[in-house]
Amino acid sequence: EFFQPSSSKLKGKTVLVTAGPTQEKLDPVRYFTNHSSGKMGYAIAEQAIKRGANVILISGPTNINPPIGAQLENVTSAKDMFEKVIECFDFADVVIKTAAVADYRPKLVHEQKIKKRPNDWSIEMERTTDILKTLGERKEKQLLVGFAAESEQLEEYAKDKLERKNLDMIVTNSIVQPGAGFQADTNIVTIFNKNGTRLDLPLMSKHEVANYLLNEVEEIIKDSEK
Ligand code: CTP
Ligand code: CA
Repeated sequence: EFFQPSSSKLKGKTVLVTAGPTQEKLDPVRYFTNHSSGKMGYAIAEQAIKRGANVILISGPTNINPPIGAQLENVTSAKDMFEKVIECFDFADVVIKTAAVADYRPKLVHEQKIKKRPNDWSIEMERTTDILKTLGERKEKQLLVGFAAESEQLEEYAKDKLERKNLDMIVTNSIVQPGAGFQADTNIVTIFNKNGTRLDLPLMSKHEVANYLLNEVEEIIKDSEK
């Protein structure tokens, strides 16, 4: 077995998990989104509940059932997610950001459907706020875990995000390896800790990944109590 629920360092702690994609509206019929299914975040939420944590699950639109016992907060856009996360941040001991947050949104949201015209079309986009980076700037006691989905230079990009966003841990997965990434039930991840340790996990279910990840989180909590 992975852990002893009675001795879990997460028992009684509040774990905030973000999951799924965001949707960025353009007009009444169109929006920008990505391939995130929400499975990784929902699996982490479920395993954290099993360890006795109070789980706040802030989720973009998904097609999967939330785990029983989570406090579910549904959001749509990156801005909605930002506001909800900030609202909950003070209560959290651990924050795990699996959500695939849009980096850009349409600069103008049109009230009416945009009609087609004979010519090509381009849309002006603006940056959204980096939620995790904001949390890294504001964090006090909170343990921050980021995710990074990359198609190349995994280690380099992940370590850069770990440092730049002031994280305690980053979980990377390649979105090009078979069995890893967005819609799959499995994942192949590497976990980098702030203290320099690296854990390469083989192909496994997202629930197993969730358990390894939470074990790592518990180790960091144990170390901080020493
Ligand atoms: N993230 C966030 N808010 C954003 C964008 C990303 O909180 N507006 C979080 C994600 O939830 C994830 C981590 O930052 O935990 C890394 O996301 P990723 O898209 O891999 O990194 P970016 O910093 O957005 O860089 P890029 O997309 O250019 O690789
Ligand atoms: Ca991004």
